[in-house]
Amino acid sequence: MLTDKFGRQITYLRLAITDRCNLRCQYCMPAKGIDIVDRKELLTYKEMYRITRVLSELGVNKVRLTGGEPFVRKDFIHFLETLSFNDKLKQINITTNGALIAKHIPTLEKLGINSVNLSIDTLQADKFKKITRRDVFEETIQTLEKLLASKLILKLNVVVLPESNTDEILDFIELTKDKDLAVRFIEEMPFNGIGLRKTNEVWNLNKIYNEIKKGYKDIIPLANKKSSTSQNYKIENYKGSFGIIPAFTRTICHDCNRIRITATGMFKNCLFDDGVFNIRDFIRNGASDNDLKKLFISTVQQKPENGFIAETNRKNKKVSESMSTIGG
Ligand code: GTP
Ligand code: 5AD
Ligand code: SF4
Repeated sequence: MLTDKFGRQITYLRLAITDRCNLRCQYCMPAKGIDIVDRKELLTYKEMYRITRVLSELGVNKVRLTGGEPFVRKDFIHFLETLSFNDKLKQINITTNGALIAKHIPTLEKLGINSVNLSIDTLQADKFKKITRRDVFEETIQTLEKLLASKLILKLNVVVLPESNTDEILDFIELTKDKDLAVRFIEEMPFNGIGLRKTNEVWNLNKIYNEIKKGYKDIIPLANKKSSTSQNYKIENYKGSFGIIPAFTRTICHDCNRIRITATGMFKNCLFDDGVFNIRDFIRNGASDNDLKKLFISTVQQKPENGFIAETNRKNKKVSESMSTIGG
């Protein structure tokens, strides 16, 4: 089993399918995009399947497929189908911007995908275009509606952006009045290709919560599931719920159950580390499943206690890579 030296058991793999994306969100990358890697540097689906199988034999039971945007990679649906044959995985989840997926929702249901986390930072078409630098608001909303009508669990990911969408926090909460979904407000992190964006406002968990309190007196705290990234609440008599993810203040690390593998096969023990080793090269040099298992077990031992220590230990000191490269 994969247990680190602080007794945290690793059961959740975040696997990035590609570093490419069809959008250009301001908080994720510069307008011109990022330097994407050559296709042969990406893990193949076969390699991803093998890595996941080996990890599932070591206790990983939840996989989240991320990107970039996972649906921009050719044959992603076919990969999902293959992955769904692994019965050690209790949950296969996807994080997506939704613009390309409306037509795939029946297939996702059929394959037993558990939940979809849809990134949507505004409910206004013009602002959507500004934030994402692309014009796909209608497609995203259509996906949102189709997901609501499906049996997939739906969470909305809203990155809280000073001077941009903080005026919509309460509008997002109103969505939970009659819709069975969870809205999660995420603290912005400097993973955008340039580092911390210039702003005088710091929207951390407390500030986001206080903003919500201005609109509602009856906020009910919910019991968080173990290792939840979000602190969760609901408004009395509302159908859905909402949460806040302290991604940047990092108060969730004590309970972290996650490892990451980027699209090029870089193994990350923490979102804030700069990568521990490249599995792709190890596999392409002929590693056996047993070699992989030994490597995973020993690497997880080095998982830093929290995201601040991970950041301090970086060789490349500046936290500025794009979330699209890391996989979220
Ligand atoms: P659930 O499994 O539905 O709880 O999703 P999730 O929150 O684990 O994943 P998602 O891809 O929806 O990520 C939402 C936000 O949480 C993103 O901004 C992630 O970068 C952030 N996040 C996820 N895991 C971690 C983590 O280990 N540390 C930090 N600091 N942020 C994280
Ligand atoms: N800060 C916080 N969250 C981010 N995401 C992408 N970039 C950032 C950032 N700089 C979010 C996306 C997606 C999730 C995987 O990470 O909105 O929902
Ligand atoms: Fe694409 Fe997601 Fe980055 Fe937006 S946040 S550019 S949707 S990878």
